[in-house]
Amino acid sequence: MAEALVRMENISKFYGRVQALEGVNLTVDGSEIVGLLGDNGAGKSTLIKVLSGAVPATSGDIYVRGRKVNIRSTTDAIAQGIETIYQDSALVIQLSIARNLFLGREPITGPRFLNRMDHTLMEQVARDLLKKVGIGKDIPPDTPISSLSGGERQAVAIARAMHFDSDLIILDEPTNNLGVAETQGVLRFVRNARDSGHSCIFIAHNIHHVFQVVDRIVVMRRGKIVADDIDPKRTTVAEVEGVITGE
Ligand SMILES: Nc1ncnc2c1ncn2[C@@H]1O[C@H](COP(=O)(O)OP(=O)(O)O)[C@@H](O)[C@H]1O
Ligand SMILES: [Mg+2]
Repeated sequence: MAEALVRMENISKFYGRVQALEGVNLTVDGSEIVGLLGDNGAGKSTLIKVLSGAVPATSGDIYVRGRKVNIRSTTDAIAQGIETIYQDSALVIQLSIARNLFLGREPITGPRFLNRMDHTLMEQVARDLLKKVGIGKDIPPDTPISSLSGGERQAVAIARAMHFDSDLIILDEPTNNLGVAETQGVLRFVRNARDSGHSCIFIAHNIHHVFQVVDRIVVMRRGKIVADDIDPKRTTVAEVEGVITGE
């Protein structure tokens, strides 16, 4: 049997005395799109923060391609091929689109010791990527993030995850505050991610959005996973709502 891309085993998390996660097991396969659903406070964000290095688990293990890993920071997660896109993505709004795409990984031109960024290359790559993620309006790559709409910012964050070839792209409510067309753009990206060999964990408020794009639905309730193998093609939205609320 092929190794899962990511396997989280028996993950627990306490924030002080609040237990946000209790013995959670989650696997994600290669080229698999997993929808993570649950009511507010169910522990979805905490679970993916543990996986993306934003918060440490209190206990439990994480395996990437069968090897146990220590994820203590977002840099560790990125090194393992795990990139996370939050509602307010970690973009530097004063910097350009191109600069944000390469943040911390800028290509260098000329003699190494001069440490001069290759702006031409960055802008070329940025232009290509923006086209790929569906920013079709020909926005120049040197545009600062501050002048982009919410959806365009989300697209830049997605483009970054794509370019650095993350194996697993985690999206935590990426469509909140987005317009209809922008939301469609994000959904299109998730749907296409599988074909380009990426896996995704997709968290969204809107169950219908999740149903449209995922291979498998996992439901959390009060810090635990209560269903991990719901096939959206064989299940109704109402049934999944029942699992979410536990009624
Ligand atoms: N930084 C924090 N400090 C204390 N409690 C937190 C913190 N973050 C989340 N929690 C608590 O952990 C639980 C799970 O929250 P969260 O993972 O954000 O759920 P979800 O994303 O499913 O809405 C909630 O009870 C929440 O109040
Ligand atoms: Mg959340």
